Amino acid sequence: MKKAIVLCAGKGTRLRPLTFTTAKHLIPIANKPILFYSLENIARAGIEEVGIVVSPHNAEEFKSIVGTGENFGLRISYIIQEEPKGLAHAVWVSREFLGDEDFMMYLGDNLILEDLGKFVKDFENSDYAASILLSPVKDPTRFGVAVMEGDRVIKVVEKPKTPPSNLAIVGLYLFRNKIFEGIKNIKPSWRGELEITDAIEYLIEKGEKVRGYIVYGWWKDTGKPEDLLEANRKILMETTEELLGEMDDKSSIQGPVRIGKASKIVNSVIRGPAVIGENCFIKNSYVGPYSSIGNRVILEDCEVENSIVMDECSITGVEKRIDSSILGKGVSVKGSQKRPASLNLILGNMSRVEL
Ligand code: DAU
Repeated sequence: MKKAIVLCAGKGTRLRPLTFTTAKHLIPIANKPILFYSLENIARAGIEEVGIVVSPHNAEEFKSIVGTGENFGLRISYIIQEEPKGLAHAVWVSREFLGDEDFMMYLGDNLILEDLGKFVKDFENSDYAASILLSPVKDPTRFGVAVMEGDRVIKVVEKPKTPPSNLAIVGLYLFRNKIFEGIKNIKPSWRGELEITDAIEYLIEKGEKVRGYIVYGWWKDTGKPEDLLEANRKILMETTEELLGEMDDKSSIQGPVRIGKASKIVNSVIRGPAVIGENCFIKNSYVGPYSSIGNRVILEDCEVENSIVMDECSITGVEKRIDSSILGKGVSVKGSQKRPASLNLILGNMSRVEL
């Protein structure tokens, strides 16, 4: 199998306001866009050519950040889906790119750390029409759900009110060209989308074999802010120490911490696992475990823990610890000693503040 499509169109409404300016797939986790982890994993599985399905409004952002794929050892092209009319519709608009070949479909907002190579090999040596990853979950109503008999999937249903099992469809699918027959024969679902789950169910009902792999490893559909923080913690757990910046003798670093080039740490405590990007200035501050601090960030007289702080943010003179927070690019948070004590806020649409 040489080709994959990675689905990155859609609105990312549950991650607003972050997704007003950045596609959710490009939000950094441990200072690297979510999508990069997926592309690296796809390349490791032996895929050579990737079509990234994007919306017209974010195509340029993807092109400029992800590029031609050279850095991943992939050839990447971009496929525009005019409107997010469903996962099966995204496959349909990719038909020219895919031709007649077998292909992998990867949901760009899923972070799957499993080795994908073994699923691809098994599929190539089988007569299955499709192969999907499944994982037991607590709330199957939020997912596509599968029923298994041995290794075979005998039923799939999208976001059922009464789930027939607890096995959720994880965002990785392997297909033969037959999936197009399924796509041609389905109608939009109650949510108005052409569901890939319905196309798979169509194949099952026609007697085609669909393989299910239950994975017990960690994976995440990064749809909500708390999912991003969980993914950030998971990735940071693997951090190894790398100190490229400078630190004075009043500062201390505890546990695995990565500090990028030209960053300066003055009279501060950095407690890992944590990553700090390049050209940051951190003074009289505490950066606690599971924090990802981007590039060119200023932290002064503040405490940050279990948070994602993106490039060019500035946090100064804030008394309370900033915890479990996500700050988009260029955000400024400043404590004020002015009397009368008041809050002075300039917040973009749909910002969220808990005081
Ligand atoms: O996360 C796993 C779940 O993903 C599966 O269990 C479900 O069966 C599957 O339908 C899907 O459900 P979601 O409701 O979570 O899908 P979402 O709308 O979040 O879209 C998944 C990715 O595909 C996301 O990166 C956006 C992209 N997408 C989505 C649509 C609807 C497209 O590229 N085009 C689209 O038309």
